[in-house]
Amino acid sequence: SETGSLSIIVLGASGDLAKKKTFPALFNLFHQGFLSPDEVHIFGYARSKITDEELRDKIRGYLVDEKNASAKSDALSKFLKLIKYVSGPYDSEEGFKRLDKAISEHEISKKTSEGSSRRLFYLALPPSVYPPVSKMIKAWCTNKSDLGGWTRIVVEKPFGKDLESAEQLSSQIGALFEEPQIYRIDHYLGKELVQNMLVLRFANRLFLPLWNRDNIANVQIVFREDFGTEGRGGYFDEYGIIRDIIQNHLLQVLCLVAMEKPISLKPEHIRDEKVKVLQSVIPIKDEEVVLGQYEGYRDDPTVPNDSNTPTFATTILRIDNERWEGVPFILKAGKAMSSKKADIRIQFKDVPGDIFKCQNQGRNEFVIRLQPSEAMYMKLTVKQPGLEMQTVQSELDLSYMQRYQGVSIPEAYERLILDTIRGDQQHFVRRDELKAAWEIFTPLLHRIDKGEVKSIPYKQGSRGPAEADQLLKKAGYMQTHGYIWIPPTL
Ligand code: BG6
Repeated sequence: SETGSLSIIVLGASGDLAKKKTFPALFNLFHQGFLSPDEVHIFGYARSKITDEELRDKIRGYLVDEKNASAKSDALSKFLKLIKYVSGPYDSEEGFKRLDKAISEHEISKKTSEGSSRRLFYLALPPSVYPPVSKMIKAWCTNKSDLGGWTRIVVEKPFGKDLESAEQLSSQIGALFEEPQIYRIDHYLGKELVQNMLVLRFANRLFLPLWNRDNIANVQIVFREDFGTEGRGGYFDEYGIIRDIIQNHLLQVLCLVAMEKPISLKPEHIRDEKVKVLQSVIPIKDEEVVLGQYEGYRDDPTVPNDSNTPTFATTILRIDNERWEGVPFILKAGKAMSSKKADIRIQFKDVPGDIFKCQNQGRNEFVIRLQPSEAMYMKLTVKQPGLEMQTVQSELDLSYMQRYQGVSIPEAYERLILDTIRGDQQHFVRRDELKAAWEIFTPLLHRIDKGEVKSIPYKQGSRGPAEADQLLKKAGYMQTHGYIWIPPTL
Protein backbone atom coordinates (compact mmCIF):
# COMPACT_ATOMS: atom_id res chain seq x y z
CA SER A 1 0.00 0.00 0.00
CA GLU A 2 1.01 3.60 -0.48
CA THR A 3 3.08 5.49 2.00
CA GLY A 4 4.12 9.09 2.44
CA SER A 5 2.09 12.03 3.48
CA LEU A 6 -1.67 11.90 3.42
CA SER A 7 -3.64 15.12 3.83
CA ILE A 8 -7.35 14.89 4.45
CA ILE A 9 -9.06 18.19 3.91
CA VAL A 10 -12.59 18.57 5.23
CA LEU A 11 -14.29 21.52 3.56
CA GLY A 12 -17.30 22.74 5.48
CA ALA A 13 -15.49 21.68 8.63
CA SER A 14 -17.92 23.13 11.13
CA GLY A 15 -21.10 21.98 9.35
CA ASP A 16 -23.43 19.19 10.41
CA LEU A 17 -22.16 16.47 8.10
CA ALA A 18 -18.54 17.07 9.07
CA LYS A 19 -19.27 17.08 12.79
CA LYS A 20 -21.69 14.18 12.85
CA LYS A 21 -20.21 11.86 10.24
CA THR A 22 -16.87 12.84 8.70
CA PHE A 23 -14.79 13.63 11.77
CA PRO A 24 -16.19 10.75 13.86
CA ALA A 25 -15.41 8.33 11.01
CA LEU A 26 -11.89 9.72 10.71
CA PHE A 27 -11.42 9.40 14.44
CA ASN A 28 -12.57 5.78 14.44
CA LEU A 29 -10.19 4.98 11.60
CA PHE A 30 -7.41 6.66 13.54
CA HIS A 31 -8.31 4.82 16.70
CA GLN A 32 -8.18 1.48 14.86
CA GLY A 33 -4.78 2.26 13.41
CA PHE A 34 -5.81 2.95 9.82
CA LEU A 35 -4.54 6.51 9.85
CA SER A 36 -0.97 6.75 11.00
CA PRO A 37 0.09 9.95 12.76
CA ASP A 38 3.40 9.60 10.90
CA GLU A 39 1.66 10.25 7.62
CA VAL A 40 -1.68 11.85 8.17
CA HIS A 41 -2.67 15.40 8.70
CA ILE A 42 -6.24 16.66 8.73
CA PHE A 43 -7.26 20.13 7.63
CA GLY A 44 -10.55 21.80 8.26
CA TYR A 45 -11.57 24.58 5.91
CA ALA A 46 -14.60 26.83 6.30
CA ARG A 47 -15.62 30.45 6.25
CA SER A 48 -15.87 31.22 9.95
CA LYS A 49 -12.79 32.76 11.49
CA ILE A 50 -11.98 30.39 14.30
CA THR A 51 -8.73 28.94 15.66
CA ASP A 52 -7.50 25.33 15.48
CA GLU A 53 -8.47 24.94 19.10
CA GLU A 54 -11.98 26.26 18.53
CA LEU A 55 -12.57 23.77 15.73
CA ARG A 56 -11.30 20.94 17.95
CA ASP A 57 -13.71 22.06 20.68
CA LYS A 58 -16.60 22.08 18.25
CA ILE A 59 -16.07 18.48 17.16
CA ARG A 60 -14.69 16.88 20.32
CA GLY A 61 -18.15 16.11 21.72
CA TYR A 62 -19.10 14.14 18.59
CA LEU A 63 -16.10 11.84 18.67
CA VAL A 64 -16.66 10.01 21.92
CA ASP A 65 -19.66 9.38 24.08
CA GLU A 66 -19.78 9.18 27.86
CA LYS A 67 -19.36 5.41 27.86
CA ASN A 68 -16.13 5.23 25.92
CA ALA A 69 -14.68 8.63 26.74
CA SER A 70 -12.04 7.47 29.16
CA ALA A 71 -10.98 4.45 27.08
CA LYS A 72 -10.44 6.67 24.09
CA SER A 73 -9.15 9.83 25.74
CA ASP A 74 -5.52 9.20 24.81
CA ALA A 75 -6.35 8.57 21.16
CA LEU A 76 -8.68 11.53 21.18
CA SER A 77 -6.09 14.06 22.16
CA LYS A 78 -3.60 12.63 19.65
CA PHE A 79 -6.23 12.76 16.94
CA LEU A 80 -7.27 16.33 17.69
CA LYS A 81 -3.65 17.41 17.47
CA LEU A 82 -3.60 16.28 13.84
CA ILE A 83 -6.29 18.78 12.94
CA LYS A 84 -5.43 22.21 11.65
CA TYR A 85 -7.91 24.85 10.62
CA VAL A 86 -7.73 27.24 7.69
CA SER A 87 -10.47 29.79 7.17
CA GLY A 88 -11.49 31.35 3.91
CA PRO A 89 -14.34 31.80 1.44
CA TYR A 90 -15.28 29.00 -0.96
CA ASP A 91 -14.49 30.99 -4.05
CA SER A 92 -11.35 32.92 -3.20
CA GLU A 93 -7.90 32.24 -4.59
CA GLU A 94 -6.35 33.69 -1.53
CA GLY A 95 -8.04 31.24 0.85
CA PHE A 96 -7.14 28.21 -1.23
CA LYS A 97 -3.58 29.39 -1.70
CA ARG A 98 -3.25 29.51 2.07
CA LEU A 99 -4.77 26.06 2.29
CA ASP A 100 -2.27 24.76 -0.25
CA LYS A 101 0.57 26.31 1.69
CA ALA A 102 -0.56 24.63 4.90
CA ILE A 103 -0.83 21.26 3.14
CA SER A 104 2.57 21.67 1.49
CA GLU A 105 4.26 22.47 4.77
CA HIS A 106 2.88 19.28 6.19
CA GLU A 107 4.02 17.30 3.16
CA ILE A 108 7.55 18.59 3.43
CA SER A 109 7.70 17.76 7.11
CA LYS A 110 6.40 14.23 6.40
CA LYS A 111 8.43 13.62 3.27
CA THR A 112 9.66 10.03 3.32
CA SER A 113 12.26 8.51 1.05
CA GLU A 114 9.65 7.72 -1.60
CA GLY A 115 7.80 10.91 -0.84
CA SER A 116 4.25 11.32 -1.97
CA SER A 117 1.52 13.87 -1.92
CA ARG A 118 -1.84 12.25 -1.31
CA ARG A 119 -4.62 14.79 -0.99
CA LEU A 120 -8.17 13.85 -0.17
CA PHE A 121 -10.71 16.67 -0.35
CA TYR A 122 -13.94 15.90 1.44
CA LEU A 123 -16.65 18.33 0.39
CA ALA A 124 -18.98 18.43 3.39
CA LEU A 125 -20.74 21.32 1.70
CA PRO A 126 -24.00 22.18 -0.02
CA PRO A 127 -23.79 21.21 -3.71
CA SER A 128 -24.29 24.81 -4.79
CA VAL A 129 -20.66 25.46 -3.89
CA TYR A 130 -19.24 22.26 -5.43
CA PRO A 131 -18.40 24.00 -8.71
CA PRO A 132 -16.47 26.99 -7.26
CA VAL A 133 -14.75 24.83 -4.66
CA SER A 134 -13.72 22.21 -7.23
CA LYS A 135 -12.34 24.97 -9.41
CA MET A 136 -10.27 26.37 -6.56
CA ILE A 137 -8.97 22.95 -5.58
CA LYS A 138 -8.01 22.21 -9.15
CA ALA A 139 -6.33 25.58 -9.61
CA TRP A 140 -4.42 25.83 -6.33
CA CYS A 141 -4.48 22.68 -4.27
CA THR A 142 -3.82 19.56 -6.33
CA ASN A 143 -0.98 17.24 -5.37
CA LYS A 144 2.55 18.28 -6.23
CA SER A 145 3.40 16.11 -9.16
CA ASP A 146 7.11 15.95 -8.37
CA LEU A 147 6.12 14.09 -5.20
CA GLY A 148 3.76 11.65 -6.93
CA GLY A 149 0.59 10.62 -5.16
CA TRP A 150 -2.88 11.79 -6.07
CA THR A 151 -5.73 14.25 -5.55
CA ARG A 152 -9.23 12.91 -4.94
CA ILE A 153 -12.48 14.59 -4.11
CA VAL A 154 -15.36 13.16 -2.13
CA VAL A 155 -18.85 14.52 -2.65
CA GLU A 156 -22.18 13.62 -1.18
CA LYS A 157 -25.77 13.94 -2.32
CA PRO A 158 -27.85 15.87 -3.25
CA PHE A 159 -26.16 15.64 -6.63
CA GLY A 160 -28.61 17.96 -8.32
CA LYS A 161 -32.39 18.01 -8.17
CA ASP A 162 -33.24 16.32 -11.44
CA LEU A 163 -31.58 14.88 -14.52
CA GLU A 164 -30.66 18.23 -15.99
CA SER A 165 -29.20 19.84 -12.89
CA ALA A 166 -27.35 16.63 -12.00
CA GLU A 167 -25.81 16.40 -15.45
CA GLN A 168 -24.81 20.02 -15.27
CA LEU A 169 -23.08 19.44 -11.94
CA SER A 170 -21.40 16.32 -13.31
CA SER A 171 -20.06 18.20 -16.32
CA GLN A 172 -18.74 21.04 -14.19
CA ILE A 173 -16.86 18.68 -11.90
CA GLY A 174 -15.99 16.36 -14.77
CA ALA A 175 -14.25 19.20 -16.60
CA LEU A 176 -11.87 19.55 -13.67
CA PHE A 177 -11.32 16.01 -12.40
CA GLU A 178 -11.20 12.58 -13.99
CA GLU A 179 -13.82 10.04 -12.98
CA PRO A 180 -11.28 7.94 -10.98
CA GLN A 181 -10.63 11.01 -8.83
CA ILE A 182 -14.30 11.56 -7.96
CA TYR A 183 -15.92 9.65 -5.11
CA ARG A 184 -19.70 10.11 -4.93
CA ILE A 185 -20.80 8.82 -1.54
CA ASP A 186 -24.05 7.01 -0.99
CA HIS A 187 -23.62 5.91 2.59
CA TYR A 188 -26.05 3.01 2.19
CA LEU A 189 -23.33 1.31 0.16
CA GLY A 190 -21.20 1.28 3.29
CA LYS A 191 -23.69 -0.64 5.42
CA GLU A 192 -22.71 -4.17 6.43
CA LEU A 193 -25.71 -5.98 5.02
CA VAL A 194 -25.71 -3.96 1.83
CA GLN A 195 -22.09 -4.97 1.31
CA ASN A 196 -23.10 -8.53 2.03
CA MET A 197 -25.61 -8.60 -0.82
CA LEU A 198 -23.29 -9.77 -3.59
CA VAL A 199 -21.74 -12.46 -1.39
CA LEU A 200 -25.14 -13.72 -0.48
CA ARG A 201 -26.36 -13.84 -4.04
CA PHE A 202 -23.32 -15.10 -5.84
CA ALA A 203 -21.53 -17.27 -3.28
CA ASN A 204 -24.53 -19.42 -2.37
CA ARG A 205 -25.76 -22.14 -4.67
CA LEU A 206 -29.05 -22.06 -2.81
CA PHE A 207 -30.08 -18.69 -4.16
CA LEU A 208 -28.82 -18.89 -7.72
CA PRO A 209 -31.72 -20.83 -9.26
CA LEU A 210 -34.38 -19.05 -7.20
CA TRP A 211 -33.44 -15.44 -7.83
CA ASN A 212 -35.74 -14.62 -10.73
CA ARG A 213 -39.27 -14.07 -12.00
CA ASP A 214 -40.03 -17.80 -11.94
CA ASN A 215 -39.82 -17.89 -8.15
CA ILE A 216 -39.98 -14.40 -6.76
CA ALA A 217 -43.39 -12.72 -6.58
CA ASN A 218 -42.26 -9.27 -5.46
CA VAL A 219 -39.43 -7.40 -3.80
CA GLN A 220 -39.77 -4.63 -1.24
CA ILE A 221 -37.07 -2.25 -0.15
CA VAL A 222 -38.32 -0.26 2.79
CA PHE A 223 -36.96 2.60 4.86
CA ARG A 224 -38.80 4.05 7.83
CA GLU A 225 -37.89 6.63 10.39
CA ASP A 226 -39.89 7.32 13.52
CA PHE A 227 -39.10 11.02 13.54
CA GLY A 228 -39.89 13.90 11.21
CA THR A 229 -37.72 16.42 9.45
CA GLU A 230 -36.80 18.11 12.72
CA GLY A 231 -34.67 21.13 12.10
CA ARG A 232 -34.06 20.21 8.45
CA GLY A 233 -37.41 21.38 7.12
CA GLY A 234 -35.87 24.01 4.91
CA TYR A 235 -33.56 21.56 3.15
CA PHE A 236 -36.09 18.80 3.09
CA ASP A 237 -38.92 20.79 1.60
CA GLU A 238 -36.87 21.52 -1.48
CA TYR A 239 -36.05 17.85 -1.97
CA GLY A 240 -38.66 15.53 -0.48
CA ILE A 241 -38.41 11.85 0.37
CA ILE A 242 -37.82 10.60 -3.18
CA ARG A 243 -34.70 12.72 -3.63
CA ASP A 244 -33.64 12.27 -0.01
CA ILE A 245 -33.90 8.47 0.25
CA ILE A 246 -35.42 6.64 -2.71
CA GLN A 247 -33.56 7.92 -5.76
CA ASN A 248 -30.23 7.20 -4.06
CA HIS A 249 -30.20 4.88 -1.04
CA LEU A 250 -33.05 2.54 -1.95
CA LEU A 251 -32.25 2.52 -5.64
CA GLN A 252 -28.65 1.54 -4.90
CA VAL A 253 -29.93 -1.35 -2.83
CA LEU A 254 -32.26 -2.33 -5.67
CA CYS A 255 -29.28 -2.48 -8.04
CA LEU A 256 -27.50 -4.96 -5.81
CA VAL A 257 -30.61 -7.11 -5.42
CA ALA A 258 -31.41 -7.14 -9.12
CA MET A 259 -28.12 -6.95 -11.04
CA GLU A 260 -26.62 -9.80 -13.02
CA LYS A 261 -23.43 -11.47 -11.85
CA PRO A 262 -20.51 -9.20 -12.70
CA ILE A 263 -17.67 -10.78 -14.66
CA SER A 264 -15.34 -10.11 -11.74
CA LEU A 265 -15.21 -8.18 -8.51
CA LYS A 266 -13.42 -5.26 -10.14
CA PRO A 267 -15.25 -2.03 -9.27
CA GLU A 268 -15.91 -1.21 -12.92
CA HIS A 269 -17.37 -4.63 -13.61
CA ILE A 270 -19.73 -4.29 -10.67
CA ARG A 271 -20.73 -0.77 -11.60
CA ASP A 272 -21.31 -1.80 -15.22
CA GLU A 273 -23.94 -4.29 -14.04
CA LYS A 274 -25.61 -1.74 -11.77
CA VAL A 275 -25.95 0.68 -14.66
CA LYS A 276 -27.58 -2.01 -16.80
CA VAL A 277 -30.25 -2.64 -14.18
CA LEU A 278 -31.04 1.06 -13.91
CA GLN A 279 -31.26 1.36 -17.66
CA SER A 280 -33.74 -1.52 -17.75
CA VAL A 281 -36.23 0.21 -15.46
CA ILE A 282 -39.30 1.32 -17.41
CA PRO A 283 -41.10 4.64 -16.75
CA ILE A 284 -43.00 4.77 -13.46
CA LYS A 285 -46.77 4.76 -13.85
CA ASP A 286 -48.84 7.29 -11.89
CA GLU A 287 -51.08 4.58 -10.54
CA GLU A 288 -48.04 2.86 -9.07
CA VAL A 289 -47.13 5.79 -6.85
CA VAL A 290 -48.57 6.83 -3.50
CA LEU A 291 -47.23 9.96 -1.83
CA GLY A 292 -47.84 11.08 1.72
CA GLN A 293 -47.07 14.01 3.97
CA TYR A 294 -47.33 13.68 7.73
CA GLU A 295 -49.69 15.95 9.58
CA GLY A 296 -47.76 18.72 11.30
CA TYR A 297 -44.96 18.78 8.70
CA ARG A 298 -45.98 22.28 7.58
CA ASP A 299 -45.85 23.61 11.16
CA ASP A 300 -42.11 23.98 10.65
CA PRO A 301 -41.63 27.72 10.05
CA THR A 302 -39.21 26.98 7.18
CA VAL A 303 -41.83 24.93 5.32
CA PRO A 304 -44.37 26.80 3.15
CA ASN A 305 -47.99 26.41 4.24
CA ASP A 306 -49.06 24.93 0.94
CA SER A 307 -46.13 22.52 0.55
CA ASN A 308 -46.89 19.36 -1.46
CA THR A 309 -43.47 17.85 -0.65
CA PRO A 310 -43.81 14.16 0.15
CA THR A 311 -42.38 12.87 3.42
CA PHE A 312 -43.55 9.39 2.44
CA ALA A 313 -43.60 7.58 -0.86
CA THR A 314 -44.27 4.14 -2.21
CA THR A 315 -43.30 3.64 -5.82
CA ILE A 316 -43.19 0.50 -7.88
CA LEU A 317 -40.29 0.03 -10.26
CA ARG A 318 -40.38 -2.50 -13.04
CA ILE A 319 -37.24 -3.94 -14.51
CA ASP A 320 -37.89 -4.97 -18.04
CA ASN A 321 -35.37 -7.75 -18.54
CA GLU A 322 -35.29 -11.50 -18.83
CA ARG A 323 -34.80 -12.06 -15.11
CA TRP A 324 -37.34 -9.64 -13.72
CA GLU A 325 -40.13 -8.86 -16.16
CA GLY A 326 -43.40 -8.85 -14.23
CA VAL A 327 -41.84 -8.67 -10.75
CA PRO A 328 -42.71 -5.45 -8.92
CA PHE A 329 -39.88 -3.81 -6.99
CA ILE A 330 -41.65 -1.80 -4.34
CA LEU A 331 -39.60 1.06 -2.92
CA LYS A 332 -41.05 2.65 0.15
CA ALA A 333 -39.70 5.34 2.45
CA GLY A 334 -41.22 7.52 5.10
CA LYS A 335 -40.50 9.96 7.88
CA ALA A 336 -42.51 10.19 11.12
CA MET A 337 -43.65 6.58 10.86
CA SER A 338 -44.42 4.00 13.53
CA SER A 339 -40.91 2.51 13.61
CA LYS A 340 -37.32 3.05 12.58
CA LYS A 341 -35.93 0.34 10.33
CA ALA A 342 -34.74 -0.54 6.89
CA ASP A 343 -35.11 -3.87 5.19
CA ILE A 344 -35.22 -5.81 1.97
CA ARG A 345 -38.07 -8.27 1.67
CA ILE A 346 -38.10 -10.89 -1.06
CA GLN A 347 -41.43 -12.64 -1.29
CA PHE A 348 -41.59 -15.95 -3.11
CA LYS A 349 -44.49 -17.28 -5.13
CA ASP A 350 -47.03 -19.78 -3.86
CA VAL A 351 -46.25 -23.48 -3.87
CA PRO A 352 -48.05 -25.11 -6.81
CA GLY A 353 -50.31 -28.01 -5.78
CA ASP A 354 -50.50 -27.11 -2.10
CA ILE A 355 -51.43 -30.42 -0.42
CA PHE A 356 -51.30 -28.89 3.07
CA LYS A 357 -53.76 -26.18 2.16
CA CYS A 358 -51.54 -23.85 4.16
CA GLN A 359 -51.03 -21.14 1.58
CA ASN A 360 -53.12 -18.61 3.43
CA GLN A 361 -50.70 -18.85 6.38
CA GLY A 362 -48.14 -16.92 4.39
CA ARG A 363 -45.53 -17.26 1.71
CA ASN A 364 -41.83 -17.86 1.96
CA GLU A 365 -40.10 -14.59 2.52
CA PHE A 366 -36.44 -13.82 2.73
CA VAL A 367 -35.86 -10.70 4.79
CA ILE A 368 -32.63 -8.79 5.10
CA ARG A 369 -32.77 -6.37 7.98
CA LEU A 370 -30.29 -3.62 7.23
CA GLN A 371 -30.90 -1.79 10.49
CA PRO A 372 -31.29 -1.74 13.40
CA SER A 373 -30.12 -5.18 14.63
CA GLU A 374 -28.65 -6.53 11.41
CA ALA A 375 -30.22 -9.86 10.53
CA MET A 376 -31.36 -12.15 7.76
CA TYR A 377 -34.26 -14.48 8.18
CA MET A 378 -36.17 -16.79 5.95
CA LYS A 379 -39.82 -17.25 6.72
CA LEU A 380 -40.93 -20.77 5.99
CA THR A 381 -43.64 -23.26 6.76
CA VAL A 382 -42.89 -26.11 9.16
CA LYS A 383 -44.90 -28.74 10.95
CA GLN A 384 -46.25 -27.39 14.18
CA PRO A 385 -44.30 -29.35 16.80
CA GLY A 386 -46.63 -31.80 18.56
CA LEU A 387 -48.92 -34.70 17.89
CA GLU A 388 -51.12 -33.09 15.30
CA MET A 389 -50.14 -32.63 11.70
CA GLN A 390 -50.50 -28.90 11.46
CA THR A 391 -48.41 -26.35 9.71
CA VAL A 392 -47.10 -23.10 11.05
CA GLN A 393 -44.93 -20.20 9.90
CA SER A 394 -41.45 -20.17 11.37
CA GLU A 395 -38.02 -18.95 10.37
CA LEU A 396 -34.37 -19.67 9.78
CA ASP A 397 -32.69 -16.82 11.54
CA LEU A 398 -29.23 -15.33 11.25
CA SER A 399 -29.10 -12.49 13.71
CA TYR A 400 -25.74 -10.81 13.73
CA MET A 401 -25.86 -9.73 17.35
CA GLN A 402 -26.21 -13.34 18.40
CA ARG A 403 -24.10 -15.07 15.76
CA TYR A 404 -21.24 -12.56 15.78
CA GLN A 405 -21.05 -11.67 19.44
CA GLY A 406 -18.38 -9.17 20.27
CA VAL A 407 -17.87 -8.19 16.63
CA SER A 408 -18.44 -4.52 16.16
CA ILE A 409 -19.91 -3.52 12.86
CA PRO A 410 -18.17 -0.49 11.36
CA GLU A 411 -20.05 2.68 10.54
CA ALA A 412 -20.80 3.16 6.85
CA TYR A 413 -18.71 6.33 6.66
CA GLU A 414 -15.69 4.62 8.18
CA ARG A 415 -15.54 2.00 5.45
CA LEU A 416 -16.24 4.44 2.68
CA ILE A 417 -13.60 6.94 3.75
CA LEU A 418 -11.10 4.11 4.00
CA ASP A 419 -12.01 3.12 0.44
CA THR A 420 -11.36 6.66 -0.79
CA ILE A 421 -7.88 6.53 0.72
CA ARG A 422 -7.22 3.11 -0.77
CA GLY A 423 -8.58 4.13 -4.13
CA ASP A 424 -11.38 1.58 -4.35
CA GLN A 425 -14.45 2.96 -6.13
CA GLN A 426 -16.63 -0.14 -5.92
CA HIS A 427 -18.95 1.33 -3.31
CA PHE A 428 -19.27 4.74 -4.95
CA VAL A 429 -21.69 5.95 -7.57
CA ARG A 430 -20.30 6.35 -11.08
CA ARG A 431 -21.37 9.24 -13.28
CA ASP A 432 -23.41 7.15 -15.72
CA GLU A 433 -25.04 5.38 -12.79
CA LEU A 434 -26.11 8.68 -11.30
CA LYS A 435 -27.51 9.77 -14.62
CA ALA A 436 -29.51 6.57 -15.04
CA ALA A 437 -30.87 6.97 -11.50
CA TRP A 438 -32.09 10.48 -12.26
CA GLU A 439 -33.62 9.35 -15.55
CA ILE A 440 -35.91 7.01 -13.63
CA PHE A 441 -37.30 9.57 -11.22
CA THR A 442 -37.13 12.91 -13.01
CA PRO A 443 -40.50 12.77 -14.85
CA LEU A 444 -42.30 11.86 -11.62
CA LEU A 445 -40.42 14.48 -9.61
CA HIS A 446 -41.32 17.20 -12.08
CA ARG A 447 -44.98 16.29 -11.84
CA ILE A 448 -44.83 16.35 -8.04
CA ASP A 449 -43.07 19.73 -8.08
CA LYS A 450 -45.85 21.08 -10.29
CA GLY A 451 -48.45 19.74 -7.87
CA GLU A 452 -49.83 17.25 -10.40
CA VAL A 453 -49.30 14.31 -8.07
CA LYS A 454 -50.55 15.04 -4.58
CA SER A 455 -49.30 13.98 -1.18
CA ILE A 456 -51.94 12.37 1.01
CA PRO A 457 -51.88 13.41 4.68
CA TYR A 458 -51.04 10.72 7.24
CA LYS A 459 -50.77 10.66 11.02
CA GLN A 460 -47.37 10.89 12.65
CA GLY A 461 -46.37 7.55 14.08
CA SER A 462 -48.52 5.61 11.61
CA ARG A 463 -47.84 3.24 8.69
CA GLY A 464 -48.36 6.06 6.23
CA PRO A 465 -51.42 6.51 3.99
CA ALA A 466 -53.70 3.47 3.72
CA GLU A 467 -53.53 3.88 -0.07
CA ALA A 468 -49.94 2.63 0.08
CA ASP A 469 -50.99 -0.67 1.61
CA GLN A 470 -53.66 -1.01 -1.04
CA LEU A 471 -51.05 -0.45 -3.73
CA LEU A 472 -48.89 -3.19 -2.23
CA LYS A 473 -51.82 -5.55 -2.30
CA LYS A 474 -52.56 -4.68 -5.88
CA ALA A 475 -48.95 -5.36 -6.76
CA GLY A 476 -49.37 -8.86 -5.37
CA TYR A 477 -47.72 -8.57 -1.99
CA MET A 478 -49.36 -10.93 0.47
CA GLN A 479 -49.08 -9.84 4.04
CA THR A 480 -48.66 -12.61 6.60
CA HIS A 481 -51.10 -12.24 9.42
CA GLY A 482 -50.33 -13.44 12.89
CA TYR A 483 -46.61 -14.00 12.33
CA ILE A 484 -43.96 -11.74 13.72
CA TRP A 485 -40.25 -12.18 13.76
CA ILE A 486 -38.85 -11.56 17.18
CA PRO A 487 -35.26 -10.33 17.14
CA PRO A 488 -33.27 -12.50 19.53
CA THR A 489 -31.84 -10.91 22.62
CA LEU A 490 -28.70 -12.00 24.38
C1 BG6 B 1 -29.69 10.66 4.78
C2 BG6 B 1 -30.97 11.44 4.64
O1 BG6 B 1 -29.09 10.53 3.53
O2 BG6 B 1 -29.97 9.39 5.32
C3 BG6 B 1 -31.67 11.54 5.98
O3 BG6 B 1 -30.70 12.75 4.14
C4 BG6 B 1 -31.83 10.19 6.64
O4 BG6 B 1 -32.94 12.16 5.82
C5 BG6 B 1 -30.53 9.41 6.61
O5 BG6 B 1 -32.26 10.38 7.96
C6 BG6 B 1 -30.74 7.98 7.06
O6 BG6 B 1 -29.51 7.33 7.20
P1 BG6 B 1 -29.37 6.08 8.17
O7 BG6 B 1 -27.97 5.61 7.97
O8 BG6 B 1 -29.65 6.58 9.56
O9 BG6 B 1 -30.40 5.08 7.74
